[in-house]
Amino acid sequence: MAGVSLDTVRKIYAGNVEAVKGVSLGIEDGSFCVLVGPSGCGKSTLLRMIAGLETISGGEVKIGDRVVNEIEPADRDIAMVFQNYALYPHMSVYDNMAYGLKNRKTPKDEIEKRVKEAARILAIESFLERKPRALSGGQRQRVAMGRAIVRKPQVFLFDEPLSNLDAKLRVQMRVEIKRLQRALGVTSIYVTHDQVEAMTLSDKLVVMSGGQIEQVGSPSEVYRRPETRFVATFIGSPPMNILPGKVEGNGRVSIGGQSLSVSDMRDGLAVGSDIEVGLRPEDVRAGATGQLSMNVDFVEELGATQLFHGKLGGADFIVQAPTGQIAADAKQLSLSIDPANVHLFDPQTTKRLGKA
Ligand SMILES: Nc1ncnc2c1ncn2[C@@H]1O[C@H](COP(=O)(O)OP(=O)(O)OP(=O)(O)O)[C@@H](O)[C@H]1O
Ligand SMILES: [Mg+2]
Repeated sequence: MAGVSLDTVRKIYAGNVEAVKGVSLGIEDGSFCVLVGPSGCGKSTLLRMIAGLETISGGEVKIGDRVVNEIEPADRDIAMVFQNYALYPHMSVYDNMAYGLKNRKTPKDEIEKRVKEAARILAIESFLERKPRALSGGQRQRVAMGRAIVRKPQVFLFDEPLSNLDAKLRVQMRVEIKRLQRALGVTSIYVTHDQVEAMTLSDKLVVMSGGQIEQVGSPSEVYRRPETRFVATFIGSPPMNILPGKVEGNGRVSIGGQSLSVSDMRDGLAVGSDIEVGLRPEDVRAGATGQLSMNVDFVEELGATQLFHGKLGGADFIVQAPTGQIAADAKQLSLSIDPANVHLFDPQTTKRLGKA
């Protein structure tokens, strides 16, 4: 098996569209890397360059020790699973899974062995004779996975493989993909714009925006210490509240005249300067003696939790609390937050103003 490394990889499409602007990234052998970001940020382009489906405008892509920039897709030893599954409608499930191996002149009994094994792992043994149109979306998704598995590739590449499934099936298949990847130990690169999928699947989470990497880290690192305001509001649901504030002095900021203590604050910030203060909805606590006062406009019920929407210091604010912890008819909340959970950002650069 093999890791993947990208060195200042760029893609410039015809018409001078710079879709990927110099991405460098190392993906360890056997690990699960997720590329996440909003629509149009260059995720698919990057994945397709690794697959060899797009030419590389600049930089270097390595699979294992081999630079693959000039190597044909079929010779890169990768298998890709697409959003639309790309199954052949006129072929049976068996033939769909066997197709790539037949093309490679794999012996017939070896093909049969691998297809049966993959079908067993994916629990699709009873559908092998059917055509794709006689399968549900989830079953088609499994066939597409099966076709990738039988190839025994060095690297799996996934481009939003679950986005055509309903919410429940998506969660189920997400767990299956994770389990499968752990069992097979194949290096995997997975593209999604769904931050929950990104958080739950990844060993390494890569947040992209505008053709560039915003942050790379473990899911918990990215969640706990977002390096930019973009990452702070993209990862986490509901998104982090961002409020305009002022630096009060060492270790303190104010929001709408209300003072707050902060652990992770850059030294030497000028007193009175503008700052953006980020508070996650799930990190604030309502109680009798909070530092911050919030007016509640309405409550959203999510079942296990409730979302209180309102205003704090003139800005929109959301609090998430276990259902029943806060009276549902509360009009005003007194909020407190652990100083370790207060995030500060530079209003100009939008970068984190944490300790160096
Ligand atoms: N063949 C092409 N020619 C010109 N521009 C392209 C081409 N393919 C993609 N682009 C542009 O490159 C940028 C990145 O596209 P890409 O498909 O990589 O985004 P993405 O992050 O996968 O988005 P999505 O989440 O919507 O799939 C977009 O601005 C897109 O319009
Ligand atoms: Mg895409």
